[in-house]
Amino acid sequence: MRVLFVCLGNICRSPTAEGVLRHQLQAAGLAERVEVASAGTGDWHVGKQPDSRTRRAALLRGYDLSAQRAQQVRAADFADYDLILAMDKSNLGDLKALQPAGAKAELDLFLRRYDGAVDEVPDPYYGGEQGFERVLDLIEAACQGLVGELKGRV
Ligand code: 4NP
Repeated sequence: MRVLFVCLGNICRSPTAEGVLRHQLQAAGLAERVEVASAGTGDWHVGKQPDSRTRRAALLRGYDLSAQRAQQVRAADFADYDLILAMDKSNLGDLKALQPAGAKAELDLFLRRYDGAVDEVPDPYYGGEQGFERVLDLIEAACQGLVGELKGRV
């Protein structure tokens, strides 16, 4: 089972989701059965580490994102992944435009599927530190829902 998280730049939200899900899969004993990755719809940050504010906030909660490097989502990802999860509606729209007809991957809005109260992870890039905490709060909660689903699927 392969899961891909997608945001705009692949330096804030989706790398956080990748790190948090990987951590939770390890704790649930599913790390060998589920592969996790992340990508951006844009290409501005390709090859770069996650944003320093993202890395710092994540590390304070025990998630080390330093090995990650940004990449841009490709149409081929719809054949390579089983589940592609967008961080906001704009990302979802861009992904729908890229999605090949009959593609294997299931495409959904991450929080709409696993949270219920909120349906988008707000972009923290131009805001203050509390934005990065909010991203972590939303992603940690939704990843619990995702791990629950994956337990029944793998
Ligand atoms: P992300 O945040 O989509 O969560 O990685 C952003 C990172 C960079 C930019 C926008 C959003 N940017 O405009 O460079």
